[in-house]
Amino acid sequence: MKHLLGICDLKAQDIEKILDHAQMYAEGLTNGSYDAEKHKGKIILHLFFENSTRTLTSFEMAAKRLGAEVINWNRETSSLKKGESFMDTIDTLNAMRPDAVVLRHSEYGAPNYIAKRMDCPVINGGDSWREHPTQALLDALTMRQHFGKLAGLTVAIVGDIAHSRVASSNMGLLTKMGANVRVIAPLELMPEKLAAEGVDKFTDLNEGLSGADVVMSIRPQKERMDKVLIHDAAYFNDYGLTHERLAHAKKEAIVLDPGPFIRGLQISDELAEDKTRFLYAPQVANGIPTRMAVLDLLLEG
Ligand code: CP
Repeated sequence: MKHLLGICDLKAQDIEKILDHAQMYAEGLTNGSYDAEKHKGKIILHLFFENSTRTLTSFEMAAKRLGAEVINWNRETSSLKKGESFMDTIDTLNAMRPDAVVLRHSEYGAPNYIAKRMDCPVINGGDSWREHPTQALLDALTMRQHFGKLAGLTVAIVGDIAHSRVASSNMGLLTKMGANVRVIAPLELMPEKLAAEGVDKFTDLNEGLSGADVVMSIRPQKERMDKVLIHDAAYFNDYGLTHERLAHAKKEAIVLDPGPFIRGLQISDELAEDKTRFLYAPQVANGIPTRMAVLDLLLEG
């Protein structure tokens, strides 16, 4: 693996290897049994063209937990503001020889484009609605820790399927790993063609939740809509997750959300506060060992 550009480039055995490595780091972070200086002297460059809380911070913590240093390049203070092109910016930064680059960008395929121009590993931190591979990997790690497996799980992804890179990467990963995947969305937020084969579509929330082990909520991605496609009150009424709605899934079903999640739109306050069902905190925490694993595997070559 030279880069991590999308789940679409990975085979099931690659995913298994990354998850095993991430699990090793998850345990290492708990008991201190890992090499905290493994990548001392390396410099990771973060190029975030879109806002981020979870991905940016956990990549930074992951790099530092491995002894590497991080540079958070800032679009607002960069020479893009003086008219330098994206391509020349990438070539300029490549000339400084970073050891790895993490890119988040609104353009479809931007990480694939820069991977052709850079001499170091490129990691996709989320591009447009196409892919967010490390998010899908950390989601899978969370499911695997909870259920001990991915194969055979029924995972219902609820929300803005049309505009979500997280939904796309999760559909790709989970179907490769043998899970049964469903998407649930209003017609306005349901794409005609899905990112993976063998995924079932539902427009009715209760029907889609029936028998699910995992319910993954996906925020309406308003920043990628050019007009209002569905009003908030109607969305919560038909697709908002509550304990009552969750009762249609399996008794022991868990709820995940890649974040940011919006209370009163995607999920009720009561369910968001129920740490036995809504495993958001362990999911976020898994961002660090997952990104340590990806960085480690790529930096080792
Ligand atoms: N899940 C996720 O990508 O969150 P951020 O946008 O905060 O990085």
